[in-house]
Amino acid sequence: MNMRKKFLLVAISTFLCLLVLVLFIIRSSTVTAPKTTTASEPQTARTLPRDTTPDTFDSSLHSIDQPGSPWWIVNKNRPLPAGYIPGDLAVPNVSLRLTASSEQMKLSASIIPSVESFFGAADAAGVPLTFASGYRSEVYQTQLYNGYVARDGQAAADRYSAKPGTSEHQTGLAFDICVRGSACELTTDFASTQAGKWVVEHAHEHGLIIHYLQGKESFTGYDHEPWHLRFVGKELASELKKNGQALEEFLLD
Ligand code: DAL
Ligand code: ZN
Repeated sequence: MNMRKKFLLVAISTFLCLLVLVLFIIRSSTVTAPKTTTASEPQTARTLPRDTTPDTFDSSLHSIDQPGSPWWIVNKNRPLPAGYIPGDLAVPNVSLRLTASSEQMKLSASIIPSVESFFGAADAAGVPLTFASGYRSEVYQTQLYNGYVARDGQAAADRYSAKPGTSEHQTGLAFDICVRGSACELTTDFASTQAGKWVVEHAHEHGLIIHYLQGKESFTGYDHEPWHLRFVGKELASELKKNGQALEEFLLD
């Protein structure tokens, strides 16, 4: 082999070696470089669990002791402050059973938008409801309770009527309903009517619960009252409906 051929062979070998080396370096850097994120691929997609929504309910959001609180719990063991009168009583713009000047046609103004949206939704669904009884003063509750005791005896009365100073009606946050145009007798038959079934399905959408549920007497202290609604706000109303729990069962137990 002459000198010229030897030189060419060495040059080609050197070029090939350099080429292999360069290709190796390029490949290594591609494999080890950190992955860049594109707009359509969130950086967290591979590192976080898919469902990060906490499945917990914040039970400390509102007071259960503070008068006027949407979660204020008033029952046989938790009386109202003596002589309590809500400071913001007003009449809702819904179908009323009595004249608007009647004390019982009032509610705390804080819940009136929800109550009006509830009655509006019922009307839209072809369920004509009437506002039967809202706020009751301690004096009126005394008359009612004494009348029931005289009629049925105290043990029976205590299952469906609150003693004066312990009625949720006195808070202005609760009310009774009945079918518009009916005799408005408050019996458990209401639960099996079209209206009663609609209320079970839709009350929570307006922040309302049926407080005195069937089978929950040990928590609420009262027999089933499918006509008695209480405002607690949409979040808690939805949580109670989802769990099938009474107010006391969920917040006090
Ligand atoms: N009927 C309910 C318990 C009340 O008297 O407040
Ligand atoms: Zn009631």
